[in-house]
Amino acid sequence: MDRLVVQGGERLRGELRVSGAKNATLPVLAAAILADGVTTVRNVPELRDIATMLKLLEGLGAGTVWDHQVIRVDASTIHKFVAAYDLVRTMRASVVVLGPLLARFGRAQVSLPGGCAIGARPINLHLKGLEAMGARLELKGGYVEAKAKRLRGAEIYLDTPSVGATENLLMAATLARGRTVIENAAREPEIADLAAMLVSMGADIHGAGTGVITVEGVAALKAADHAVIPDRIEAGTFMIAAAITRGDVLLRECVLGHMDAIVGKLREAGVEIEGEPGGVRVRCRGTLRAADARTEPYPGFPTDMQAQFMALMAVAEGQGVITETVFENRFMHVSELRRLGADVRCTGSTAVVRGVEHLIGAPTMATDLRASACLVLAGLVARGETEISRVYHLDRGYESIERKLRKLGADIRRITE
Ligand code: UD1
Repeated sequence: MDRLVVQGGERLRGELRVSGAKNATLPVLAAAILADGVTTVRNVPELRDIATMLKLLEGLGAGTVWDHQVIRVDASTIHKFVAAYDLVRTMRASVVVLGPLLARFGRAQVSLPGGCAIGARPINLHLKGLEAMGARLELKGGYVEAKAKRLRGAEIYLDTPSVGATENLLMAATLARGRTVIENAAREPEIADLAAMLVSMGADIHGAGTGVITVEGVAALKAADHAVIPDRIEAGTFMIAAAITRGDVLLRECVLGHMDAIVGKLREAGVEIEGEPGGVRVRCRGTLRAADARTEPYPGFPTDMQAQFMALMAVAEGQGVITETVFENRFMHVSELRRLGADVRCTGSTAVVRGVEHLIGAPTMATDLRASACLVLAGLVARGETEISRVYHLDRGYESIERKLRKLGADIRRITE
């Protein structure tokens, strides 16, 4: 298992290109299932989760080619309809193949994901929506078996604006008979990106990116060529890396319009963020101030930035209150941050962070993707050496993070065993 070793104290300076969004690429790759042809996806980040999705598509019988940032998926050869437990277990997002498989082939068998480090994370809303569209569902041996001759349009209200459920139902609706309306839909930029891809495949979709999405089903979709949006969570993580080290970094391919809540909070904390012709410049020259943050579905402050924001608050002046409302168990980074000397007290879904003058490096262990990023950020500013083990979590969602940070002047290296 790889480890990262960070010597804290270097100011980050320079330029960086933000990679394509992992959470946009995964559903877009699943959407390739909907067309009988070769789909091209561009601006793909090189990540373990993407490799897992390709393995899943290949298991269905699709042909895949991955050349740097471009992936081609030939879905004309799909002849199996199963997403097996060993893949779904390593990547929950595998369940987004359910909607497209059912829509194009009338059948799918997908392993139930089970719990994960950050909570129970059920898929009941995905299933309820598909049932409303006429799918017959059976739970057998840990798998959902879904069948439908042809899905039919339905009016679906999501109890909570689930990103994955919105994606699954949106894809399923494109080939259903008649109109589907998804209410209380997730509004994340990744949903709008998926819809843009589906529209270029010939789908008829209105309202993606808002809380009400309307889809008129069509008889067939054709393969398309789509470039995914930049990763707003990677961009936000690098903004905090610049801020926490009192650095000065220019982020290229950074879409500020997707980051209002993050940028607002960072500015409140004293970080300077300005759009410039070449990108977005992030600096921190004055004092870092404490700020409160509450995670919410988009356009609220993203749960995927909560851990990284906590690292920043750990060294800010004053006391900040961080409330997690999206997942029930997403404070695993707290005990690791404390090992570096952070002053964090948790009660239920609330963490009170009192900034300390300095953190001190220590060995730590990553527990999930964003928790790992939080520890890297803390390590950048901690005195001495911070070691982060179980880096495979980080590799699921950050493209060569240590190479990118080193380019900005960080003292960070990977130790491979
Ligand atoms: C996606 C993101 C993940 C992010 C999350 C919330 C991808 C690949 N992953 O995950 O990085 O942290 O959105 O922004 O895009 N829920 C139910 N029933 C369901 C589905 C969800 O109760 O059927 C609940 C979940 O337990 C959770 C909340 O809804 O509390 C949000 O989950 P959801 O939006 O579905 O997250 P994912 O799509 O899994």
